[in-house]
Amino acid sequence: MDDILDGYGAYMNPSLARTYRFMGLNHAEYTGQGAVVTDADGVDYLDCAGGYGVFVQGYRHPRIVAAAHEQLDLMPLSSRVLVSPRQVELAQRLQELTPGDLSYSFFCNSGAEAVEAALKFARASTGRSLIISTEGAFHGKSYGALSVSGRDLYQTPFKPLLPDVVRIPYGDLEALQAVMSDAVAGVIVEPIQGEGGVIVPPDNYLPGIRDLCDKYGASMIVDEVQTGIGHTGKLFAIEHSGVVPDLLCLAKALGGGVMPIGAVVGRPWVWRLFDSSPLIHTSTFGGNPLACRVGRVALDVTVEEKLPERAAELGAWFIPELKQLMTRHPRLIRDVRGRGLMIGIEFTAPGVGGMVMSELFQRHVLAVYTLNNERVLRLLPPLVIEKAQLETVLSHLGAALDQVELVADDLWESTAD
Ligand SMILES: Cc1ncc(COP(=O)(O)O)c(C=O)c1O
Repeated sequence: MDDILDGYGAYMNPSLARTYRFMGLNHAEYTGQGAVVTDADGVDYLDCAGGYGVFVQGYRHPRIVAAAHEQLDLMPLSSRVLVSPRQVELAQRLQELTPGDLSYSFFCNSGAEAVEAALKFARASTGRSLIISTEGAFHGKSYGALSVSGRDLYQTPFKPLLPDVVRIPYGDLEALQAVMSDAVAGVIVEPIQGEGGVIVPPDNYLPGIRDLCDKYGASMIVDEVQTGIGHTGKLFAIEHSGVVPDLLCLAKALGGGVMPIGAVVGRPWVWRLFDSSPLIHTSTFGGNPLACRVGRVALDVTVEEKLPERAAELGAWFIPELKQLMTRHPRLIRDVRGRGLMIGIEFTAPGVGGMVMSELFQRHVLAVYTLNNERVLRLLPPLVIEKAQLETVLSHLGAALDQVELVADDLWESTAD
């Protein structure tokens, strides 16, 4: 088919096809290397979207691809009767690398599945049902994960959702204090809200949640599906706070840009649900040898190539550069924020983000706005990106903003607040 979007329209999702067409996103991806994606016509794009957090180690990292090939030739999926050394290797590495006494891993295939598992573990280990979540949160779109996410648009058509979920403002410890009680099974939180618009909470927020969870015997569930594996300048964003959660959800970059994988890592006390049955929570494909082998090598590559440190260094230079663009375009940009190379640019009006995204795309730079906050363009590039490539992004972003200044008057005046 010449036009891939015709195929999207005919066979998958006509509404998505129209949206992509409207935004001019009609170029077929073909291959990728490092921080560059190449389309079917051989055009290179600098990737600052990073698959929404998947490509920390870049596209087709040679060590990770080689490990995948090797495992593919041996045993990609598990017999599920014989035991799996690949699972043990990844689980051991996660125990070594995660903070405190996070000890045990459960493997699944996606972020939403990791969140589902964490919610079940929190309920079973406390014998309670109430879950506290936050406004603007994104935890996935399966029923449990959707129930604790923070945007009505995605929830309303599917109600009733999971009962006993209370949503409070993000970053607000007083609001949390007000709803905490002996009925709370868990508090689920992202260390930096990704889809909510790259919201960095106050420094005392995560330690405050820890204290309240300890006081009331609730579990603290930290969702690092997007922040995890290096983006914020630490392997896990929670490390910036010194807090040890009870349950840590991972996915995206744990798969090294090669395989889908999800994981929940937990402290011993939340693992006691398995005492009632070792098979109380399972997944056919979860923990398959191919994904686990790749996950293990992805962690090794991230640590050995010092990718979190690289994110911290590049971010310390890049964020101030972006702030200078804000000074040049106060009419368009309201805020630039983030940590390491997880960065959000908040615009003054809805719609500006989409226009900037489209202008960037025409200049062959990939960036997307956040799912729960369309005002915020998110930059989440592979951590192997070169400084020179980020300089190119800066100059294209400057040109894109100049262009939007010219054409956005009407939109801006009608919608800015
Ligand atoms: C913080 C967070 N949690 C969970 C998810 C859901 O992950 P998945 O799309 O793999 O189900 C996402 C996806 O963007 C996410 O950003």
